[in-house]
Amino acid sequence: MAKRTTSFICQACGAVYQRWQGRCEACGEWNSIAEEVSNDAHAAPVASGGARLKKGRVIPLEGLSGTPMDAPRLPSAIAELDRVTGGGFVRGSVILLGGEPGIGKSTLLIQAAAATALAGARSVYISGEESAGQVRLRAQRLGLGGAPVELAAETHVEDILATLSAGTPPRLVIIDSIQTMWTDAVEAAPGTVTQVRAAAQGLIRFAKTTGAAIILVGHVTKDGQIAGPRVVEHMVDAVMSFEGDASHHFRILRAVKNRFGATDEIGVFEMGSQGLVEVPNPSALFLGARDASVSGTAVYAGMEGTRPMLVEIQALVTPTALGTPRRAVVGWDQNRLAMVLAVLEARGGVRLGQHDVYMNVAGGFRISEPAADLAVAAALVSSLADLPIPPETTLFGEISLSGLVRPVPLAPARLKEAAKLGFGEALVPEGAAEAARQAGLTARPVQRIADLVAEIAGGAPRARPRIAGGGKAQSGVDDW
Ligand code: TYD
Ligand code: MG
Repeated sequence: MAKRTTSFICQACGAVYQRWQGRCEACGEWNSIAEEVSNDAHAAPVASGGARLKKGRVIPLEGLSGTPMDAPRLPSAIAELDRVTGGGFVRGSVILLGGEPGIGKSTLLIQAAAATALAGARSVYISGEESAGQVRLRAQRLGLGGAPVELAAETHVEDILATLSAGTPPRLVIIDSIQTMWTDAVEAAPGTVTQVRAAAQGLIRFAKTTGAAIILVGHVTKDGQIAGPRVVEHMVDAVMSFEGDASHHFRILRAVKNRFGATDEIGVFEMGSQGLVEVPNPSALFLGARDASVSGTAVYAGMEGTRPMLVEIQALVTPTALGTPRRAVVGWDQNRLAMVLAVLEARGGVRLGQHDVYMNVAGGFRISEPAADLAVAAALVSSLADLPIPPETTLFGEISLSGLVRPVPLAPARLKEAAKLGFGEALVPEGAAEAARQAGLTARPVQRIADLVAEIAGGAPRARPRIAGGGKAQSGVDDW
């Protein structure tokens, strides 16, 4: 008979304790620890009659051929998805796809399963949330009704593994979602940390022994509240997050962890009536509805992984009515903005202490590179002085605390993309000036932050700044 063990598991972070306590020491959460009885502490479900690897079997390292990057892969035929996985689903790998409910995870995965099935690979879609009929209806609405995907509505892991083990081994298995799965191996309600982990273990073991690629869907709320998917992150080969803004149509697929590829790649999709459509040229999308005649906007030539991406940075600087000015930022790091403001003030002679500052990255996009510093500074100065930056200008460069503009990686790729999109001039660190010329752009090298302030003033039609609601005494830019 299986050994029964009792443990106490934090439902918020997955920490395991020998006895109950009121507060989890690992995550600090109160009343999150629940008792869970397991039939065997290390039990994970296995398919009945499934083959097991012999214990203690070892293989020499030099006997393995190839690197993880050229592992056998199953391409999905969705280029933006393959870009993020690193060229397709690796045999025997398990991917966790996280995202808020309604973002489009099921839509993306039924499209992927249909594409692999049409390419001749056995693809199975297991839904624990919708009936098989509902999944089929959705596929038909997406024009994928003819794809030979096997659909099932099931939540019991042992039954799923038995179904998968019958017939030719599947190449791709979608589990939608891991929170709905449960196994006999542990006694806990579906959706609890214990069940999610045990169910994931069983499915991962199946992937490793049969070579099927498995995608586990995991719902995550805005503040990452449901702990379920978090606790399997370390068990899977890749973690992807599907992000987007309810008010925008586009969705971004990001690799958070990837044992078989780069983690800085993103895939961009647009949600339409025909499901998710790939966006091969996201810069055009992000710059789409741009009004270049207003002050306070700057186009940043950024990189997302190996792909250059131009995005508009918007700033609004207004005199404050409060004792402590407001600083609000969407799409960028708040601390980084505080640093740019401080450097502008200390090294650029731009006084912002009496101004509220709002910053936004257009289209709901999120930037993480410090290379955006220069474009952010430009948007701020432009808004403060009410001097628009010429529409054909793009910028990038990291700003150091000393006020120097530092070089950033991959300048030629950024500049080529800018030239391709019709930009004519680049405000860049000195080192990138040559690359700008080679890309066919007019280079305006910027050595220090003060040079940037002068460039914006010099390149604009008006000689003196005009600040909304302020007289000359309020002029925030004083050394030009
Ligand atoms: P879904 O894939 O069910 O999200 P998730 O699995 O992440 O919870 O997507 C649901 C949303 O997508 C729903 O609000 C409707 C929208 N949608 C479209 O706009 N067009 C479509 O073709 C489909 C299938 C869904
Ligand atoms: Mg879904």
